[in-house]
Parts: sequence; structure tokens; C-alpha cells
Amino acid sequence: MNMETKKTFRLGGEITVNRLGYGAMRLTGQPGNFGPYPEWDSGKTLLRRAVELGVNFFDSARAYGPEWADRIIADALHPYADDLVIATKGGVDKFAPDQIVTDGSPQTISMQIDDALRNLKTERIDLFQLHRIDPDIPIEESIGAIEAARQAGKVRLIGLSNVDREHLDRALDVAPISSVQNRFNQAETQQSALVDYTAEKGIAFIPYGPLGAHPMKKGAVLPPQEALAWLLRRSPNIIVIPGTTSVGHLEQNAAAWSLV
Ligand SMILES: NC(=O)c1ccc[n+]([C@@H]2O[C@H](COP(=O)([O-])OP(=O)(O)OC[C@H]3O[C@@H](n4cnc5c(N)ncnc54)[C@H](OP(=O)(O)O)[C@@H]3O)[C@@H](O)[C@H]2O)c1
Repeated sequence: MNMETKKTFRLGGEITVNRLGYGAMRLTGQPGNFGPYPEWDSGKTLLRRAVELGVNFFDSARAYGPEWADRIIADALHPYADDLVIATKGGVDKFAPDQIVTDGSPQTISMQIDDALRNLKTERIDLFQLHRIDPDIPIEESIGAIEAARQAGKVRLIGLSNVDREHLDRALDVAPISSVQNRFNQAETQQSALVDYTAEKGIAFIPYGPLGAHPMKKGAVLPPQEALAWLLRRSPNIIVIPGTTSVGHLEQNAAAWSLV
């Protein structure tokens, strides 16, 4: 590994995480990431194996299940080790497979934060991300609700997802923002400027679809481990969250550091 490539990032300038994390979206029912993961015990084993492999950043969301990804994480990993960071999201819900509903109203966000506290069995959510911008609600109002929860001690850090630079700047006027989660991988580099902008500001960039979602499909340019290594090399503020339901794939992904 290149000695200048740091393995960790200080999220929000205060929590150190391994830049090779795990995305829990697929630990839900299929199709459509709806309902509980049918192989619940295997899912718990996989999450615990991730911790053994050094993963300490887990990405989840209200919309995964909905609520079921948060619940399996808590079932597997609670009580949480001191260095574990569990990120979840709100502002998007799901009432049927693949049917997502965006609602960024302050009332909904506040209610979803309380649900996430319960589902994650925690008194404070490490990182709460606004999953999407609600076109009917100014971002300031949605972020304002998360900021109020942060002031009340229910949320430690705030993140954004599916945003552009203007959204980020507007959110930064309302609250400290610690992360941006947008689609980015070696084959889909439209977010390159935002990767650099967040790096300048000390904000984490969390690329989703890090493997191009279907790594064996046409269009993916690199095998999974190399796709992850490429992202880890791309910028020191990138935290990767490959998703897998296979312990074998998890182990391969965790070994991506050897290629960095
Ligand atoms: N913010 C957002 O709007 C948003 C949207 C989508 C995703 N996300 C987040 O990003 C995370 C990752 O995204 P993603 O799951 O869509 O895409 P991904 O991580 O790029 O790809 C996951 C796919 O790759 C396969 N895979 C994983 N490791 C592999 C390996 N070593 N070899 C071969 N195949 C492998 C998985 O299948 P197996 O299960 O068979 O390994 C799964 O089909 C999600 O879990 C979620 O946390 C966020």
C-alpha cells in the first residue's frame, strides 16, 4: 500500500472510521429491498464478520426494508463497540417493493429519527443522512429538523445524499455537514468535482454503487477489489460502502486495501 494513503478518515473531524465500510441495503427482503432479510441469522453472522475484518462504518437507511436494515444491524452488533459508527438515513420511505416515497417535511424527519433511535437501539445516531431532497420542501427545512435533533442530542453528525454542490452549500448554512453520499465509481465519474469540493471542506464523500452495482455487467471496468482500491486511492475523504450478502465477497472486498 502506498504509505501516503490513509486507511482512516475523521468523520465530522471527530470520529475515526476505516475508509472501507459496509452498505446494508441488501440485507433486506428481495425483490425491491422490501421486508426483513429472509436469512436473518446469516445476515447477523455477515455483519459480525465485517467487524472482525476491521469494518467499523456501516451504512443503512430508513428506506431499506423499510426499517429492517437498521433492525438487523442492531440485532447483530448491539451493544456497539466504542469505535463502531452506524449511519442511517431518513426523508425517504418505502411502502411496497421498489416504491420509494420522498418526504422531507420536518415532522416526518423528526418522527423517522425517533424510529431510527428505537430500531438501532441507541440514544444517539452517529450519522443521520438526508436520503434525498424533497422537491416540495426547501432543503433548509429538512436539514433544520435534523439539526434540531442534533441540538437535542439525538444525532451526532449530519450527512446528505443525492445532492449537488448548491444543495451542500445551502445545507452548510443551516448545520455542520459531515458527509455526502452520491453515486460514484470508476465507470460513473459525474461527481468528480464534488469529490474534490468535499475533500477541500473536510467532508466525507461516500460513493454508492461503488462496484457499479452489478460488477459483472457490461460497463463495469474493474473487478470488485480493484474498483474499491481505485476509489480508496481517488481521494482521502472517500469512504467506500460495498454491499454484499456473501461472506466470501465480504472477505474479498475487505482485502482491497492490499491493492491500494
Ligand atoms: N444513498 C443512496 O441513494 C444509495 C443508493 C444505493 C445504494 N446505497 C448504499 O450503497 C451501498 C452499496 O450499493 P449497492 O449495493 O447498490 O452496490 P455495490 O456495492 O456497488 O454492489 C453490490 C452488488 O455487488 C455484488 N458484490 C459485492 N461484492 C462482490 C464481490 N467481491 N464479487 C462479486 N460481486 C460482489 C453484490 O452481490 P452479492 O450479494 O452476491 O455479493 C451486489 O449485487 C448500499 O448497500 C447502500 O448502503 C445508497
